[in-house]
Amino acid sequence: MYSWTDITGDEPQTLDAARLRRTLGSFPTGVCLVTTVYEGKREGMTINSFASVSLSPPLVLWSIRDDARSADAFISAPNFIITVLTDKQQELAMHFAKPAADKFEKYEDEFANGLGGCPRLRDSVASFECTTYSRYQEGDHTILVGRVQDFSGSDANPLMFHAGQVGSVQEVAAKIAKQA
Ligand SMILES: Cc1cc2nc3c(=O)[nH]c(=O)nc-3n(C[C@H](O)[C@H](O)[C@H](O)COP(=O)(O)O)c2cc1C
Repeated sequence: MYSWTDITGDEPQTLDAARLRRTLGSFPTGVCLVTTVYEGKREGMTINSFASVSLSPPLVLWSIRDDARSADAFISAPNFIITVLTDKQQELAMHFAKPAADKFEKYEDEFANGLGGCPRLRDSVASFECTTYSRYQEGDHTILVGRVQDFSGSDANPLMFHAGQVGSVQEVAAKIAKQA
């Protein structure tokens, strides 16, 4: 359990953190890789907080945990690239979901040079190359809003995240059916 004072300044609320996390995970999402380069060093992490914000101007957002190893780099960097992963990229998604000094070494051939030198995955469902447009520090995360400078899409099948399960749409559905 943990507590905080809500935005209205009302009485501190106490919620069950584990149950909140589980309940938030009932919202099915895709899985993305976000990459950047800051002071010459490449960074990449797996995320599912990606969302579209605006078409004019073209804006997207994602949020980063402030105590993540790569948080300072992502929050300071002028550019980032968000890639919507395919159902063939589950291993890569898990690799980039763990802290490591150089996560790219293992997948060198799969990346090209993108906006401002950010690593860009060659295969994807979609890819959005962004300049950092605004930053909002909220709670224990920072929301990063990007202005889309270039993008691409394909008809590949997406990787999914739902109820703690990562996989293709069919794999996630099968895993959930087994638990029921
Ligand atoms: C499916 C999935 C979604 C994730 N989404 C986010 C996210 O939106 N924001 C975030 O900060 N971490 C998210 N993470 C956790 C990061 O990938 C993980 O903390 C990673 O180690 C961060 O990289 P770093 O340690 O190199 O900083 C997610 C992990 C998984 C498996």
